[in-house]
Amino acid sequence: MQKQLTTFAILLAAISLFSCTNGTQGTKEQDEKCQPIRTEVPERPAGQKDVLGLAAPKLDAVRVGFIGLGMRGPGAVERFTYIPGTKIVALCDLHADRVERAQAILDKAGLPRAAAYSGSEEAWKELVERDDLDLVYIATDWKHHAEMMVYAMEQGKHVACEVPAAMTLDEIWSVVNTAEKTQKHAMQLENCVYDFFELTTLNMAQQGLFGEVLHAEGAYIHNLRDFWDSYEGDWRMQYNKEFRGDVYATHGMGPAAQVLDIHRGDKMNVLVSMDTRPVNIPEYLIEERGMDRDSAYNFANGQHTMTMIRTEKGKTIHIQHDVSSPRPYTRMYQVSGTKGFANKYPNQGYALEGEMLDESVTPDHENLNAHAYVSDEVRDALMTKYKHRIHQELEEKAKEVGGHGGMDFIMDYRLVYCLRNGLPLDMDVYDLAEWCSLAELSRISIEHNSAPVEVPDFTRGNWDRIQGFEHAFAD
Ligand SMILES: NC(=O)c1ccc[n+]([C@@H]2O[C@H](COP(=O)([O-])OP(=O)(O)OC[C@H]3O[C@@H](n4cnc5c(N)ncnc54)[C@H](O)[C@@H]3O)[C@@H](O)[C@H]2O)c1
Repeated sequence: MQKQLTTFAILLAAISLFSCTNGTQGTKEQDEKCQPIRTEVPERPAGQKDVLGLAAPKLDAVRVGFIGLGMRGPGAVERFTYIPGTKIVALCDLHADRVERAQAILDKAGLPRAAAYSGSEEAWKELVERDDLDLVYIATDWKHHAEMMVYAMEQGKHVACEVPAAMTLDEIWSVVNTAEKTQKHAMQLENCVYDFFELTTLNMAQQGLFGEVLHAEGAYIHNLRDFWDSYEGDWRMQYNKEFRGDVYATHGMGPAAQVLDIHRGDKMNVLVSMDTRPVNIPEYLIEERGMDRDSAYNFANGQHTMTMIRTEKGKTIHIQHDVSSPRPYTRMYQVSGTKGFANKYPNQGYALEGEMLDESVTPDHENLNAHAYVSDEVRDALMTKYKHRIHQELEEKAKEVGGHGGMDFIMDYRLVYCLRNGLPLDMDVYDLAEWCSLAELSRISIEHNSAPVEVPDFTRGNWDRIQGFEHAFAD
């Protein structure tokens, strides 16, 4: 029913949109007809309250169960063996041998074996129903995420879920509503917000070094050619075959949204999206999988997808997705403000007006301006001076444990730290909703000739109650 309503709302908006003229100066009536396509925002059910700043009771130890032990999951199990105050209680995967492989990680760490669940599509429910778990950690394919999160919260557990934690607006609203109804944490495991350059840059932005940040960019540009055959049941290829739009936006969105204080004083209002036709994946399907040309080119996801978003406070975000072009890995990550600029790929660099720097960074600061990048020495001095408190405390251990250079460990550590200290998590369910919403919203835009699409306010009116993004600490 909800799906039908959403479709109906989209159609209504699309019909009015297509009655717009091409004139550059519209009449008032035409402007009114040119409103963005709007999807339905379901009313908050009576008796349910938002979870902004949610702090759950402190946990002495975090008892965790993992679901999904394919390429990604076992790394998380291993990282948890290094985090104090955790107990790995249960492990689940469709395949018993994958559970066994994860048990071997516990053996190696000298920890007791966990309860094992496998052998059926529904075995995970038994894990979730256990009464000795605080947290369910999900690393399955995209199509299972939302269902597992919702069920886990309904069973009284906090949930942490790999990216993207939800794929459709219906799934997102269901996760948001369940988090609000149960007052449980639902955190998306977006690791890139803990990367050393991103978090340092966030700290610099929060200290005002870039002036007012007006624009941020992010991306997931990663040729997955070597991975396509390794996903269980070919789920990732099948998803891309079926859906147009940015289906994996969160690595780009996370750092951009945090630096722009999204739902903490600003909100995303509208997006437009555009893509190229797909070529390299269809050719791969022909060459490597022997598929006939017509079937291979019956492929929905564009090779390169671009989305532009404008916020309530007049700021912009540019997000890109490309998992098949032969080009170097990049998450783009750029931050542009009134006094400076940060760029992560291919070379990490900062360009700042001299007035934003001082002697502690370089004696030559008065002669600098943002027309050029600062030298490597000045950049390193900046990165040392503005190292985030989280990195000051965790960098050494994170680099030792690893996981994408350490950011995965920091993500898991912070999750456990906040749960144990009864603090709001670094990423809440509205972050999850906003970052994941690009999948469906960008598809709607592309399928309507790149029409503007309204980004729903998932907080339902409370996007500026918290002013400024910040990480919580116990002291
Ligand atoms: N944050 C990152 O940097 C990062 C990196 C890689 C993958 N990921 C994400 O991690 C998730 C998993 O990706 P992957 O590469 O490990 O995929 P994968 O296919 O290797 O693993 C998925 C696992 O889930 C299991 N599974 C599927 N249905 C299940 C069910 N009903 N019950 C129990 N287990 C089930 C499968 O058997 C498989 O072992 C995805 O969301 C992906 O996007 C994130």
